[in-house]
Amino acid sequence: MKTLIKNAQVVLPAGLVQTNVVVDGPRIAEVDAAIQTRADEVIDAGGLHLLPGVIDDQVHFREPGLAHKEDLRTASRACAKGGVTTFLEMPNTVPAATTQRLLDDKRRLGAEKSSVNYGFYIGATPHNIDELRRARNTPGIKIFIGSSTGDLLVDEQEALERIFAETTLPITAHCEDEATVRANAARFAGVADVAVHSQIRDVAAATIATRRAIDLAVRHRRRFHVLHVSTAAEAELLGQYYASLAASSARPLVTAEACPHHLLLNVDDYWRLGTLAQMNPSLKTADDNRALWRALADGCIQVVATDHAPHTLQEKARPYPHSPSGMPNVENSLALMLNEVNRGRCTLQQVVRWMCDAPARTWDIVGKGRIAPGYDADLVLVDMNLARTVRNEEQFAKCRWSAWHGAELTGWPVRTWVRGQEAFRDGRIDETVRGAEAQFDHARGGSWATAD
Ligand code: DOR
Repeated sequence: MKTLIKNAQVVLPAGLVQTNVVVDGPRIAEVDAAIQTRADEVIDAGGLHLLPGVIDDQVHFREPGLAHKEDLRTASRACAKGGVTTFLEMPNTVPAATTQRLLDDKRRLGAEKSSVNYGFYIGATPHNIDELRRARNTPGIKIFIGSSTGDLLVDEQEALERIFAETTLPITAHCEDEATVRANAARFAGVADVAVHSQIRDVAAATIATRRAIDLAVRHRRRFHVLHVSTAAEAELLGQYYASLAASSARPLVTAEACPHHLLLNVDDYWRLGTLAQMNPSLKTADDNRALWRALADGCIQVVATDHAPHTLQEKARPYPHSPSGMPNVENSLALMLNEVNRGRCTLQQVVRWMCDAPARTWDIVGKGRIAPGYDADLVLVDMNLARTVRNEEQFAKCRWSAWHGAELTGWPVRTWVRGQEAFRDGRIDETVRGAEAQFDHARGGSWATAD
């Protein structure tokens, strides 16, 4: 199948260009404004923008074990709708993905059910170092340095030192200091106001754990990615890390990411959203929102990902602290960021860098993250002028709610291709399309910092 997408404003590595893109089978064959070619399908995309598909490197899709919240079919359909063509999924399922056998079970489920491309992290425990050493076909090792949903936790220094010293895959971590969170939780025991969540999982908890993890990465010279940075203080730590590198020619080992909820929501939203705004790490202040945007703009944070973490509305309705932490977002994350482009907060090229190019480089994903000949035809056509209101009842995610219910956003994906197959178009999913497992070339060692 050969498809010619004509006249779109295409976000290329070099900038925004009105050009034509030829897709042949699963790959991009040509990018050329003067192209004359026969194709099975010719799409006139005048007035629309063509982007590389979004790579969301932090999602919780709940299968196996928690499929009442979400499963790979519903979640991957939500991805296709949202312009996300590849997801990397976290190990806190039931059972947790802490062995190659359990990882392979998930990979089989992905092949069977996923509408988009996929990869699955292996989870660290204090005792599975041999599994972590041998793990294959995975973006990397996920450590919960602080506990969250599920029972994964590694917070003893000796166990962390071993994982950083004795494994070779890239490492990523949920950074909230367990001792700080527990002490705060004891102080606020009995308080049922969810706003207290931000005082329990406070700035100190996030900063202590992020500092500890960066220190481990630097001492052991390991590739390390800080998940969901939520505070100005962590952005400053990352700034200090990059400043320390500038003095030498050392290659950066540490990357970081921010999530739309930490960029766009803050503690002032609890009164409106209640436990729907309960996330780990917690929401922080408007000053923290601004610091995260600055860190993205100056390159101290490279990636935007969702931490899509669905729970049912019934579960969320339990009184705090019995309500679970997490919100869904794969189907709205790109629209939320495009809306920010339209508001003048950032550029379309920056959004593509943060959501497509940087995650591909961070996880050494082969053939993804940009529109160029030879790359996978994971593409999303967006209408920057389309205004649409997010509605709970229209969500594809199984839990069927969004923290942005009622918000009008301008700039939406209208068509999504996964390796050349049209997975989503104008509100409808092609149920026959299946994604493929992402390939990780870890010998590259995180190519995000290189210019090209
Ligand atoms: O709020 C969160 N929920 N943060 C996490 O890190 C885990 C997630 C979940 O899996 O529910």
